Order: sequence, then structure tokens, then C-alpha cells
Amino acid sequence: MLASPAQVAETACGMITDLITSVPDCVLGLATGSTPLDTYRGLVQRHQHGLRFDEVETFNLDEYAGLASDHPQSYHAYMAENLFDHIDIDRSDTHIPRGDADDLDEECLRFEQSIRDVGGVDHWLLGIGSNGHVAFNEPGCDPDSTTRVVDLAPETITANSRFFDRAEDVPRRALTAGISTILSADRIVLLAYGANKAEAVAEAIAGPVSPDCPASFLQTHPDCTFLLDTAAASLLLP
Ligand code: GLP
Repeated sequence: MLASPAQVAETACGMITDLITSVPDCVLGLATGSTPLDTYRGLVQRHQHGLRFDEVETFNLDEYAGLASDHPQSYHAYMAENLFDHIDIDRSDTHIPRGDADDLDEECLRFEQSIRDVGGVDHWLLGIGSNGHVAFNEPGCDPDSTTRVVDLAPETITANSRFFDRAEDVPRRALTAGISTILSADRIVLLAYGANKAEAVAEAIAGPVSPDCPASFLQTHPDCTFLLDTAAASLLLP
């Protein structure tokens, strides 16, 4: 547990920096949402001070179905704006499922295979939804799931509506890495801060391993770290 969201971001940034420094051609799994923004800002700053990304390969967790890469609310646009445009990564080494692919199921299979082709992810950075989802693996998901197209839960659609002008524009479906895709990473680091994540965090860490809280499947991973601020950890404290 850390005192502030800033310390969560600083710690997450430090772990990724250490990995890139020791393994310059590492494979990073990346997340979107508001939670990792400060971590990405930190990585951009470290790049400005010499950290190189030119051999790093990245895979993102998810993308909205139906959004083209240049849609301002797409996760492609988010990653460009918040990280990729500001570092020296080779864009051909960045992988995000395409929400505008002609055949979304085929796109999911291609994405999953591309992770296997590079030998898997070394470090996957995650956030958590207030209903316990990770990526877009919603409650009820299968622990053996791989990358696939999913329907978003009503609370996720509501949470995401803050990024869209009109309610009818909020995507109802997404392409997401599966629980098994995420668990296949060597190391997983989940970031959470704020009281609105406290219940999901407590269920994920101290509740039963259950599809009711998809993040609880992380308990089965041998190297998974939760970086929490005091508010997110508040229901775990005695
Ligand atoms: C979305 C993303 C998740 C993310 C979650 C939490 O649903 N698909 O990967 O963890 O939002 O978002 P935030 O960090 O904005 O709370």
C-alpha cells in the first residue's frame, strides 16, 4: 500500500523502467483508462532523460468494437496521445486489437497468436473496473478465456460514458485479452486508487477466486503485485 496515487504511479513507472533497463527488448502489456496516465507521464519523462524504447514491444489489453484507430476515444488514440507519440518506440512493435477489423473474431485470434509469436508478455500493467473487471473481462467470465469479443456490462458502459458526448455513442462491445491471456504474462502489476475501487480491490485480493470478480483470478498468478493507495486499500485494512 502506498500513500498516494502519485506514489502508485512512481512505483509502477520504476518497475517498468528497471525492466527496460535490464531487458531492452522486453515485452510490455499495457492498459488504458485514467489509472495508468501518470505512469505513462513518468515513462515519457524518463525517456526524455535517456530511457530508450526502441527495442520494446507492447501489447494492449483491449479496444472498443466498432471504433476505428483514429477515433478520438479509441484506445489506439489514447496510447498514441499518452505514450507512443512521445517515446522512440517503433510503431510496428505496438499491438492493439483493431476495433474496426472486418472480422472481429479473426482479429482476436490474430492478436492472441501475435503474443505467442513473441514468446509472451514479460510485465502486464493492469487497472481494475469498479465491478472487478480486468481489461474488459466482465463478471461471469471464464478463467480460460483468451482474446475475444465481449459484451460490456451495464456499469462499464455507464463508467465509460464520461468519455463520449452522447450516451448512444458509447460502445456496447469490445475486443479484450482474456483472463488466460493476462495470466500467461511472467509478471502482473495492477494499479488502483480511490475509494470507488476499494470494494473491487478487497474482493480481488481477499475474496474467493471467482468469476464474480474477474480480478480475483489474479490470486492464482505466482508474480502479481497490487499497487494501491490508502483509499483503494481501505477495505483491506484492519
Ligand atoms: C476500462 C478498461 C480497463 C480499465 C478500467 C478502469 O474498462 N478496459 O482496462 O482498467 O477501464 O478504468 P479507470 O482506470 O479509468 O478507472
